[in-house]
Amino acid sequence: MMVRESHRERFTVGHTTRTRSGDGLITLLHISDLHFGPPFQERVGESLQRFAHQLEPDAIVASGDFTQRALPEQFAAARAYLDRLPSVPIVVTPGNHDIALYRFAERVFHPYDLYKAHILPELDTVTKLPGATIVALNSTAPLRATVNGRIHRWQIDFAREAFQDVPEEDARILVSHHHFAPPPDWDRVAVMPQAKRALDAFTHFKVDMILGGHLHRAYIGNSLDVYSGADREHGIVVVQSGTSTSRRGRAREREKNSLNVVRVDARHIRVTHYMYFDDVQDFVPTSRHQFFRRGRPALDREGQAEAEAIFREDHS
Ligand SMILES: [Fe+2]
Repeated sequence: MMVRESHRERFTVGHTTRTRSGDGLITLLHISDLHFGPPFQERVGESLQRFAHQLEPDAIVASGDFTQRALPEQFAAARAYLDRLPSVPIVVTPGNHDIALYRFAERVFHPYDLYKAHILPELDTVTKLPGATIVALNSTAPLRATVNGRIHRWQIDFAREAFQDVPEEDARILVSHHHFAPPPDWDRVAVMPQAKRALDAFTHFKVDMILGGHLHRAYIGNSLDVYSGADREHGIVVVQSGTSTSRRGRAREREKNSLNVVRVDARHIRVTHYMYFDDVQDFVPTSRHQFFRRGRPALDREGQAEAEAIFREDHS
């Protein structure tokens, strides 16, 4: 199967052509677990298309599980869907459902052929936006950890290299399908092996935020919630998306669909969690989360003025 050239241009390393506003704001649309195949819900998918075109994000992050059973026709449908999204960089990463689970020979000998042909030829990528570097690491493990995935040591080295020359003020964002830090109440699927090793490394690289999927329920929190790590002054903002278009929502998002809008500027990371509601046939904001970059207001005048304004508001 041929890889269309346009896929490469659109999905691999590149710069957006859009100019950002003066405050360096970046807007990301974070979707996940589309699951083309029987669980995919057409009406929700169309609503998501409308949402994406209205939002006009700087980039879209789709954190894995494009298909339900890694079949050629499911990948083709996912490909056609991605092509209809706004023409901005789309950061992708494979999910465990993008690998054949039951077709043993395929899983063992060429697990990523269909993903590479339809979604992206590369499995680990670096995307540069003005003001942000996004590293996507393939967390699937076709042979061993089929469900909870894994990140290899060489992938940590890949991330280190990608982040090492990033200017201090730029956002460092990591994308992977499986979760490094589960919601505190999550007891269904074990976190990936060596997740703590990865989190320690990402902390060392000063990663601001991790975006993922897999759980089919949203979780917006901080890596320190589940792993205090070596440096408790640098927590990584953890943003998990629920399933954006499938019937497979779980726990608090059972039979629900959700997505996140992430806005990053020099001082803050703001995440809005949207859920799909049938009565309005649209994604509606349900909660907002604001984090200071690097865990607290900056020590400069602007940062201190903001801290004082918040203090006054809380004490009024
Ligand atoms: Fe999934």
